[in-house]
Amino acid sequence: MESYIDYLRRLKAWGEALKENVQAERLSQLIDEKWLKKLDDFLNKIEEHIAKQEVSYEEVRLLQNKGKTLSNLIKTSNTEKAIPYGKHKLPALPYAYDALEPYISKEIMKLHHEKHHQSYVDGLNKAEEELYVKKADSDTMKHWLREQAFHGSGHYLHSIFWNNMTPNSSKQPIKEVQNKIDNDFGSWQKFKKLFSDAANSVEGVGWAVLSWSPISGKLAIQTFEKHQLFQVANTIPLLVLDMWEHAYYLQYQTNKGKYIDNWWNVVNWENVNNRYLTAIKIHM
Ligand SMILES: [Fe+2]
Repeated sequence: MESYIDYLRRLKAWGEALKENVQAERLSQLIDEKWLKKLDDFLNKIEEHIAKQEVSYEEVRLLQNKGKTLSNLIKTSNTEKAIPYGKHKLPALPYAYDALEPYISKEIMKLHHEKHHQSYVDGLNKAEEELYVKKADSDTMKHWLREQAFHGSGHYLHSIFWNNMTPNSSKQPIKEVQNKIDNDFGSWQKFKKLFSDAANSVEGVGWAVLSWSPISGKLAIQTFEKHQLFQVANTIPLLVLDMWEHAYYLQYQTNKGKYIDNWWNVVNWENVNNRYLTAIKIHM
């Protein structure tokens, strides 16, 4: 049976690996120093016990909990990646404006990305500034919350949408998400029909969305009215299709069905599968 001292040696090796990660990740200098000092204290305590060859069950348990807490705190303190309120930027497209032709024209992609998506980024920045920087008063609160929901959903959905498409589409689902689609909807063809019909049912402006529900463990098809209404809360979009007129009208006019049919040729199933694999890690 493993002795407490052997276990402490393993805990020490784990703590040293964590320390190396913190050093490799290069968080801000302030965060680095703070966590490195706490990790050193933690490792020194373990070393003391190993040197004395003396430790009780209670002390092992305390050290184990301390390590777990430290690891969680370090993981959640990486604020470097956070975008400050009001500072969102238009993300670059992962391909050229003409890359999705003939299915989606260069003119649509350019206008859609440069003008429409930019306006959602600007609108979200303005709303966040009013809400969190200037601290909107109770009279204007509702207005800015509404603006945040509209422009924020617009910005985030377009950010997913660009990556959901590729000029090198596999033209059908692949890997784990293929398996899940088969399990939940019966087959790829059945799913495709359901999703296309949902997209066609959007009245005026909105989206068709394939999402993952962490609570039910199932895939779901939804439509979002505008960008933010009609949504089921606590679900994660995996694949989204923009059904606003600005996404197709220049090329397809009123022929929404043709736009939907052609769009399947540019779906990036590798990206959808990666989003699925990330989403299913969330348990709540
Ligand atoms: Fe759009």
